[in-house]
Amino acid sequence: MFAVDLLLVLGLLGTLGDVLGSVCNETCPDKPVFTPSTLVVKYGGSTSATCVACEDACLGHKYDLEVAVGSRKRHPNSTTVTWIVANMTQWDTYAWCYYNTDSDTQCCTILNVIVFHPPESVSMSILNHTGPMFEHEEYTLQCTVRNVAPVEKLAVTFYMGLKELGRVTSKATMKEPITETFILNLNASKEDDGAGLWCQAQLELGPSGPQPPLITVSQEVPATVYYGPDLDDPATPQPISVTEGRTLQLNCSAVGNPPPSYTWTLPSGGSTVPDGSVLTVTSVGFEHGGQYVCNVTSNRKTVTVNFSVNVQVDFIPYIIAGVVIAVALACFVALMMYMQYYKQRRMGQYNLKDVFRFHARHIAVPGEG
Ligand SMILES: *[C@@H]1O[C@H](CO)[C@@H](O)[C@H](O)[C@H]1NC(C)=O
Ligand SMILES: *[C@@H]1O[C@H](CO)[C@@H](O)[C@H](O)[C@H]1NC(C)=O
Repeated sequence: MFAVDLLLVLGLLGTLGDVLGSVCNETCPDKPVFTPSTLVVKYGGSTSATCVACEDACLGHKYDLEVAVGSRKRHPNSTTVTWIVANMTQWDTYAWCYYNTDSDTQCCTILNVIVFHPPESVSMSILNHTGPMFEHEEYTLQCTVRNVAPVEKLAVTFYMGLKELGRVTSKATMKEPITETFILNLNASKEDDGAGLWCQAQLELGPSGPQPPLITVSQEVPATVYYGPDLDDPATPQPISVTEGRTLQLNCSAVGNPPPSYTWTLPSGGSTVPDGSVLTVTSVGFEHGGQYVCNVTSNRKTVTVNFSVNVQVDFIPYIIAGVVIAVALACFVALMMYMQYYKQRRMGQYNLKDVFRFHARHIAVPGEG
């Protein structure tokens, strides 16, 4: 009769604690002790908990369990009562253990019972968005957990690849299974490009809960993040001096998604040619000097790099030519002098070689002859 009345009151007033607070004293010494102190049970599953009503305060008094479901088993010659549930079919259930005291009150302990239901499914999406994301823009990630109980024990973690983005919980307190949507804001960055977005739902049921804890993960939503173009070398290039005949290489490489395209404007007539990130002139002439403009385009954005090229005269050929001319000139002069001398000897004039020979013959050298 008491249990039926109480159920009625529970139904009218709501929480168990409020109602029991008026009929049972939870602060008395030598109060009933439940093992385990928190009972975690899967909906539809079986479970049991044991109450030792008292050490000695309840001896000679009425003691018992009040339960909403299942059966009670008393143990002879002890103050122990066991609650046995073969099939847990209540979401918001209760069990408490009590004994009557001399002063016509009850000393009691309410068992903390958690009836859980693992998520039926977990799914990941980006709210109001399809297609690629753009760097530095905000997106709302949405993780939907279907048919889970109790939602207040649920923690949802969002991931980008292996990187944890954030963890959220629900404020809802209902014990029945519900479908709850969790959201997290994401500021897209280029490092996220190509990673998978996913979320995980974990029922945190404590040490009395299933071990390892129940984790359900969503599918992966591939994240494409458009970014750039970002120049590999963002510094403004210095004016470039190159000697004629040498190779000129201008580089305006950039990264981006989609990969950037490059167009070059050349100093000669300002013509625009499609090209790669590196412009090469294998043998520079004076016509190659001037301003080069590289336009890097991606995501409807264009970054411009200006190169100033100054072609210098190559002096080496002139130096070589000068040397060759000097040598040729010297040879010519020598030839002319020799020819002049030869002409004079033929005409029977003074021969320097004979003069030396004459002298050698007539000088008295000591020791000789
Ligand atoms: C999502 O898009 C719909 C329709 O375009 C709009 O009514 C709704 O407000 C959007 N929701 C958010 C959170 O932006
Ligand atoms: C262009 O510059 C980038 C960055 O400085 C460099 O990684 C790349 O190798 C260069 N390309 C050439 C062809 O020099």
